[in-house]
Amino acid sequence: MTAEPATAAPVLPPELRDRIVAEFPKYPEKRAVMLSALHFVQEAFGGWIPQEVVPEVAELLEVRSIEVWEVVHFYAMFNAEPVGRCHLRVCTNLSCCLRGARGIVRALEEKLAIRPGEVTPDGDFSIGEVECLGSCGTAPVLQINNESYREGLTIEGVPGLLDELRARLAAADAEEGK
Ligand code: FES
Repeated sequence: MTAEPATAAPVLPPELRDRIVAEFPKYPEKRAVMLSALHFVQEAFGGWIPQEVVPEVAELLEVRSIEVWEVVHFYAMFNAEPVGRCHLRVCTNLSCCLRGARGIVRALEEKLAIRPGEVTPDGDFSIGEVECLGSCGTAPVLQINNESYREGLTIEGVPGLLDELRARLAAADAEEGK
């Protein structure tokens, strides 16, 4: 039986380490760079934070790995699993559910043929359910990656939203010559 080729574990590229270290003079202690560092890491790894790089981040910040991992899991803005290029974070807390968030999630599931926590085969979309985004007055609310919110969503508006995002991704691909 042929062994599967080993996949290299993700590591922090030197330029990413340098970017984190460059933040240190702005703060009284290294651990205070935690949120900035995790944003940099997430951006560098396409929208998520691989567990393998957490010890490296911890070493730089002079904290324990578990402290970094706890922060990753505490904040909904950080993803501990791979996500799509457009990660659709739907608030499914009380106000949004009362205003139809479950229907929005179902419409996304139907249109994208994935469930929350999954990524489309082309890597373009993923769905996440998040706790209150703090905009209950404009429920139901969705956030795409870390952009500003889409508010007052309707089931009827879901196809148009996905078309808009597909057009945006196609434009980005064209710009990169893909
Ligand atoms: S419950 Fe959805 S924004 Fe507050």
